[in-house]
Amino acid sequence: MPGNQNSEVAWKYHNATKHSYASVRNNAHFLDFNNQPIPFKIYPTLDPSPLPAELRQIGVAALSAIAEIVPPQTVATLDLEAIAQLLYLSAGITRHRKHPGGEIYFRAAACTGALYEIELYLVCRDLPNLEAGIYHFAAAEFGLRKLRAGDYRDILIEATASEAAVAHAPLTIVCTGTYWRNAWKYQDRTYRHFGWDNGTLLANLLAVGTALGLPAKVVCGFVDETVNALLDVDPRREVAFSLVPLGYAPSLPPKPPAEALPLGLETVPLSRKEIDYPLMREMHSSSSLYSPAEVAAWRGGTPLTNFPPPKGSTVQLQPLSDPEIPRDPIEQVILRRGSSRKFTRAPITLVQLSTMLDRATRAVPADFLDPVGSQLNHLYLIVHAVEGLQPGAYVFHRSRQELECLKPGDFRDQAGYLGLQQALPADAAVDVFYLADLGPILQRFGNRGYRAVQLEAGILGGKLYLAAYAQHLGATGLTFFDDDVTNFFSPHAEGKSAIFLVALGHSLKTKT
Ligand SMILES: Cc1cc2nc3c(=O)[nH]c(=O)nc-3n(C[C@H](O)[C@H](O)[C@H](O)COP(=O)(O)O)c2cc1C
Repeated sequence: MPGNQNSEVAWKYHNATKHSYASVRNNAHFLDFNNQPIPFKIYPTLDPSPLPAELRQIGVAALSAIAEIVPPQTVATLDLEAIAQLLYLSAGITRHRKHPGGEIYFRAAACTGALYEIELYLVCRDLPNLEAGIYHFAAAEFGLRKLRAGDYRDILIEATASEAAVAHAPLTIVCTGTYWRNAWKYQDRTYRHFGWDNGTLLANLLAVGTALGLPAKVVCGFVDETVNALLDVDPRREVAFSLVPLGYAPSLPPKPPAEALPLGLETVPLSRKEIDYPLMREMHSSSSLYSPAEVAAWRGGTPLTNFPPPKGSTVQLQPLSDPEIPRDPIEQVILRRGSSRKFTRAPITLVQLSTMLDRATRAVPADFLDPVGSQLNHLYLIVHAVEGLQPGAYVFHRSRQELECLKPGDFRDQAGYLGLQQALPADAAVDVFYLADLGPILQRFGNRGYRAVQLEAGILGGKLYLAAYAQHLGATGLTFFDDDVTNFFSPHAEGKSAIFLVALGHSLKTKT
């Protein structure tokens, strides 16, 4: 099996899973509703213990919560109620809708196809009203199933080569991806979706953590086998993708009570049969890290990617300042959020767009973003209807807070095409594309850099969603024709890869 440093595997996966007009037309895949996976992981032999259902208001403005980072050594209360808030507002069921074939349980964060393949686990010490242990978040019951009793945090410390945030966190949330639940619809492309869907969830989790005053960090560098074994997941089906240590305790944890032996716990099959996609499993094992030494060498040192200063005309962002932002609290905005199903074509203002870009692209605390404030993805925009901004294609210069016009024009038709021929990107006020220069990223981080770049895009995309809904606007994630996106923004984007797309505007039925 090629190791992480052989980034040919990530390139192969990326190229093989690109959408093009021809690949989408020629794909004979259909949705087999008789074999549709269930949307929850269920351990039938374990009863969940309920989480507190009555959650107190946090009250912190969403536009602050998504933009700020709590300093790493801040001590704050982390009790069962705070945990319930974190879980509910990142992965809880917030709405449900009946349809002829059944019922869809919508969750707090956007997710491709509403398939919710990201599962959450807690690894914690004794906390107020929660004993030390490893727990699975049972979203359907809004409860926790205890998988192991005792303080196992030391195993995560070793797996992350003593990552400081993990070492001092009373609680680490481990996010996993379940292949089949998403691959049922999206086939091999699901490995990208792990990053996207984990990322939107993390945007919520980080924002709620910040609102609760808890330091948090996204950790992508860990020994995969150790973490998967600790959770006792079957890595052919489900794999750990990211870790989020939360809170700060000055003292280090004790040695774990026991070796994390296999538990052999029964889980309800997702569907009658599962289809295996070997390309994704190759992508996963070739981006796995096998020793703490490999992890220590992996993290940090984010490469500078190719991004020349503006050559064309630029427009300065006009974001709202702290005293000016709408104060809608983070929990209200998360519950209001839901992907726009139709945009009205009405314009948004330059101030609204500026505020979204400014707030959503401030630093993400992550072990692959070093120094803090580094970014792997660059934002390219197609502006259709923004008062004070000429329609056209733009690139965002984050450090200058400027938009550089690459070409003026009405590109609604092209945007609709690029977004897989859907009406949403054509009708939006603006489409924000995330493109990354994969060459230096994969050179520095190996195949695992591919996980990081998708995850970062998901986090930034999730933040854009929240920044839109905080201003009573709408948003939706979208998929796209990969190479056509790069071509559209070239020559500026030449050599970059399309990673993510969010459309922003006025929803036909904007929820309030
Ligand atoms: C990365 C990403 C890509 C998406 N792509 C599309 C898309 O191409 N077309 C679409 O109509 N919705 C798309 N969606 C929206 C999802 O269908 C939506 O998030 C899901 O149904 C859950 O609903 P909610 O966001 O309203 O909670 C996408 C969402 C994400 C996060």
